[in-house]
Amino acid sequence: MATNVSTMIDADHIAQRVRELGAEITRDYAGRSLVLVCVLKGSFVFTSDLARQIDLPMRVEFLGVRSYGEGTKSSGVVQITHDLTKPVEGDDVLIVEDIVDTGLTIAHLLDLLRTRKPASVKVCALLHKPARTRIQVPIDYLGFTIEDKFVVGYGLDWAERYRNLPFIGLVESGS
Ligand code: IMP
Ligand code: MG
Repeated sequence: MATNVSTMIDADHIAQRVRELGAEITRDYAGRSLVLVCVLKGSFVFTSDLARQIDLPMRVEFLGVRSYGEGTKSSGVVQITHDLTKPVEGDDVLIVEDIVDTGLTIAHLLDLLRTRKPASVKVCALLHKPARTRIQVPIDYLGFTIEDKFVVGYGLDWAERYRNLPFIGLVESGS
């Protein structure tokens, strides 16, 4: 199935960057009450690798999110399909997102999580497409900045396919 996908960021480069992000987070959150909030579905691969690079006591929570609208366009209207299972009041929340595209999803999630009264809320995104920004959001930890292309793999899908690719790639047209 991978034959029609070209590599944009290979698995070794992703692993190297995830190690660096994990080391940074480990430094910054020492002595804090860290909760990684994995935004489903796209961030499940990134979160599982990142969590294993953080050398601190921490928790993982999952937030299921569905963006209304079909295909490759984000509508910015976000439906919560699975909520956190434990309160994060007083905790240091780090939202783990696969990609910040227009910024609408993260803006919505920041608003939502702040109502839960955490001690802090920050954002860790593997990818950022600045060309498509519609709302500026803080990205406190960023893996890679990419150009305005639709990418798949490492958790990211195209119509639910390709999430299991171990690299970030581009779907070749005609596939
Ligand atoms: P935003 O609300 O426009 O920032 O979109 C964020 C969400 O859209 C991401 O969490 C992804 O689920 C999805 N998305 C945006 N760009 C891509 C892409 O290039 N490939 C796969 N999913 C994407
Ligand atoms: Mg996502």
